[in-house]
Amino acid sequence: MERTFMAIKPDGVQRGLVGEILRRFEAKGFTLVGLKLMHVSKELAEKHYDVHRERPFFPGLVEFITSGPLVAMVWEGDGVVASARKMIGATNPLSAEPGTIRGDFGISIGRNLIHGSDAIETAQREIALWFSSEELVSWQPAA
Ligand code: CMP
Repeated sequence: MERTFMAIKPDGVQRGLVGEILRRFEAKGFTLVGLKLMHVSKELAEKHYDVHRERPFFPGLVEFITSGPLVAMVWEGDGVVASARKMIGATNPLSAEPGTIRGDFGISIGRNLIHGSDAIETAQREIALWFSSEELVSWQPAA
């Protein structure tokens, strides 16, 4: 079954949006298989955002992601990677459609509330980076 990694960033936690964001993915019908509130180390943040290492915003991005608690999660379901990206909305919240998480709650690209894996291969890499296999719970919702 397809899985994706998502993280409610420190701004989402600070603004009290954890419940709202979890609710959206539960209501959609995806299955939560991993969840933890954590402070992120600089090392993990740099590995996670390695693809952006040469970008000018990289130091600020790492500083922000490590600035406060974040909610790391893994969701499962058919097509969950692409569907979650649609539900999250465009990277810049000012361009994100109303009805998406960033479109409804954000205005700043550097404070865009939530990260979601951009492809199945990325999701596999990110899940392995953030979660041990013991932290993931396989279960089936009742039919
Ligand atoms: P995310 O989906 O977590 O992936 C990379 C992050 O880099 C992105 O969300 C933004 O929060 C951040 N980002 C992208 N572009 C910029 C930018 N121009 N300035 C600051 N942060 C950015």
